[in-house]
Amino acid sequence: MTSDDSFSPAAPLFTRPVEAAGAPRHVIPATETLPATAKQIIEDETMLDGNARLNLATFVSTWMDDDARQVYEASFDKNMIDKDEYPQTAAIEDNCWRMLANLWNAPDAARSIGTSTIGSSEACMLGGLAFKRRWQQARRAAGKDTSSPNLVMSSAVQVCWEKFCNYFDVEPRYVPISEEHKTLDGHDLAKYIDENTIGVVAIMGVTYTGMYEPVAEIAAALDEIQRTTGLDIPIHVDGASGAMIAPFLQPDLVWDFRLERVHSISTSGHKYGLVYPGLGWVIWRDAKWLPEDLVFKVSYLGGEMPTFALNFSRPGAQVVLQYYLFLRLGFEGYRAVQQESQDVAKFLSAGIAKLDAFELWNDGSDIPVFAWRLKDGHTHNWTLYDLQDRLRMRGWLIPAYPMPADLEQITVQRIVVRNGLSMDLAQSLLQEIENEVAYLDNLDAPMPREASHAAFHH
Ligand SMILES: Cc1ncc(COP(=O)(O)O)c(C=O)c1O
Repeated sequence: MTSDDSFSPAAPLFTRPVEAAGAPRHVIPATETLPATAKQIIEDETMLDGNARLNLATFVSTWMDDDARQVYEASFDKNMIDKDEYPQTAAIEDNCWRMLANLWNAPDAARSIGTSTIGSSEACMLGGLAFKRRWQQARRAAGKDTSSPNLVMSSAVQVCWEKFCNYFDVEPRYVPISEEHKTLDGHDLAKYIDENTIGVVAIMGVTYTGMYEPVAEIAAALDEIQRTTGLDIPIHVDGASGAMIAPFLQPDLVWDFRLERVHSISTSGHKYGLVYPGLGWVIWRDAKWLPEDLVFKVSYLGGEMPTFALNFSRPGAQVVLQYYLFLRLGFEGYRAVQQESQDVAKFLSAGIAKLDAFELWNDGSDIPVFAWRLKDGHTHNWTLYDLQDRLRMRGWLIPAYPMPADLEQITVQRIVVRNGLSMDLAQSLLQEIENEVAYLDNLDAPMPREASHAAFHH
């Protein structure tokens, strides 16, 4: 019921109160609105968002099948933290991280420990907190100072690591990437490591470009540092995307728990785990690497269950969706889906490399993500930001952004190929890119410039 007496059910939707007058934006309305009217207003407002399927900026899933939708509907009212009330959902969470521990070659998955999170950011922070606490414990036991921990990582880390260092008082030590060392690769690592280093982050699928950091080479550099200094520095692999690609597409690449120095690995269930937004995972190769005093107990089937999380309440549905996909696709299904994305990425990168204007930064053969830049001297009339804007006019969201510190003079443009960008759509996209580049190349004066573009972090 509406409190407005003038309302008649026969009134056409767009002439009803609120619709006709405009919805309030910053205060909760004084009275109710009919559900159909409220729904229509929201549909109309969100209609102005970009089309998620054409959003090639995001790593996060934008498509799941109809059965997944039903699974989701059946579980979206479950709170992941209510383990006593939803013991089956809790058991499903356990099954999932154990499957991941095995997928990532934990030497003895029964000794591993893991949890779901809201995304990779929370998962990375938990990995970082475990490093910090272990380091503090060891330092205190040795009667040493614990006031200045540092974490070593590439200058191209995702913003979640900057947040971790900021929120939890850890000094970030960035190893700059360069044209010669496009990722953290162990080069010069000794210069950044000291007795206050709590760990090193290795990224499987650098956000800016999609390239893998060579975890085995980083581990070898740390072995050498240990040999000469005695410092035993652990690695956390931020596998936000790559931890769900490498096991399927590059099974021989050694990046995971096969390397003893890798204490923990995180991933986003909602990226190449193929689940809708709101899911991450973090796993420790051995429970001994997760200090017990970080773990809280919640009640579970009349007993207690350990939890380690930044959030308390969190949707359980995404965890159930992950389990659905593990069962539904199996190893072979995941392999086929990821392979298709990679085939599409390589098709697109090959097409873009053929255009005179561009030079590839990488071609999508690590994760199905690649970046390119304008060839030096190609034009003064347009930039990749102009191409981004032209493509946006056609519905495609393909960001251009500066590379991180020390390479910020280089602008790249990146495509993230996900499940749902079919070869058929990719062919249309390539055609659009060719058309827009031809249009821009035909300009006889520079495009008008807007204010400089902000950095881009996802
Ligand atoms: C390498 C890397 N780490 C962490 C994150 C953060 O992931 P999430 O959005 O799941 O919190 C991202 C996101 O793109 C990423 O690319």
